[in-house]
Amino acid sequence: MKKLKGRNCVITGAASGIGRALAHGLAREGMNLLLADIDIQGLATVKKELEGAETTVHTARCDVSKYEDILALAEESRIQLGVLDMLVNNAGVASAGFIEELDHEAWEYALSVNAWSIIHTVRAFLPHMIERGRGHIVNVGSGAGIVGIPYHAPYIASKFTVVGISEALYSELKHKYPGIEVSVICPTFLKTNILQRTRIAIPRGLLTEEDRQKALERMEEFKTIFWEKYTKGTPDVDAVVAKYIRGIKKNKLYIFDTPLLRVAMLIKAVCEPLYKAVLRREGKKNLRMIEESLIEMGIGISKNTLRAKRFS
Ligand SMILES: NC(=O)c1ccc[n+]([C@@H]2O[C@H](COP(=O)([O-])OP(=O)(O)OC[C@H]3O[C@@H](n4cnc5c(N)ncnc54)[C@H](O)[C@@H]3O)[C@@H](O)[C@H]2O)c1
Repeated sequence: MKKLKGRNCVITGAASGIGRALAHGLAREGMNLLLADIDIQGLATVKKELEGAETTVHTARCDVSKYEDILALAEESRIQLGVLDMLVNNAGVASAGFIEELDHEAWEYALSVNAWSIIHTVRAFLPHMIERGRGHIVNVGSGAGIVGIPYHAPYIASKFTVVGISEALYSELKHKYPGIEVSVICPTFLKTNILQRTRIAIPRGLLTEEDRQKALERMEEFKTIFWEKYTKGTPDVDAVVAKYIRGIKKNKLYIFDTPLLRVAMLIKAVCEPLYKAVLRREGKKNLRMIEESLIEMGIGISKNTLRAKRFS
């Protein structure tokens, strides 16, 4: 969508991180906003931050994993904004842990928020865009929707779904309704609050049962230390989101914040042995960060670590 000024937009997951930065950036562009999240306190803070912007800002509580909430959000959008020009599906959560130890809840958590939210919103909002013959659907996927990195398989599954649905929407809608644009933003590593709502299963084989219990009891500390390592040296969220908005204005299908993802796509397409090596390297790197975080907490790694078993 080339011109944003005066246009209307719904953003989910707008109380924090990328959603909050998008709300600021799109308000600066002159868009009227309906911000949705489960975190109503966070929404109120963002709304307050946006006071003085020359646009209208509404908020609504919405659990994007629930279809009835999304239907209510579509109704709220009709009441507050009238016509809808842009929908940003940004709300997201993660589940992490070794794949063999993740339970159904971990899978359902990531898939119900990240993947089903897109399905719900497509059903609830797309008819309105089709009726008008225009609009822009912006889905926030992830680099984890391009490369199957280790230790958060439910998240990977959900984000590959987001990328897949985005391509399907593009190919189908562009053919039938050329006025409707589709973009998928694929962030890599940004220091947001995503780890707060991430469900983590500390692997059984990595620690003695006693140490594993200790780690579970000190999960918040683990998350803080791990996230510091994971996002060390990552760029400022607002600057990266400004890049995403430039991508939206250019009607890009894929919006990346690093050329590395395009390189990964290319390697995947043309050189499988190299791509496999990249995946294996990610496995080692992530496990090392988990181990280092536990060691920093003073929680011992058992001699017979999975790293030793798997990668020696
Ligand atoms: N931070 C990163 O490095 C990164 C990388 C790749 C992709 N992403 C994606 O970016 C998006 C935004 O994440 P973020 O990093 O800003 O995290 P964040 O936790 O800071 O923000 C996510 C927001 O989504 C909201 N949310 C969570 N579950 C919800 C639900 N069921 N209904 C409504 N709102 C809900 C949270 O309350 C929060 O305000 C997510 O889709 C995430 O997967 C982030």
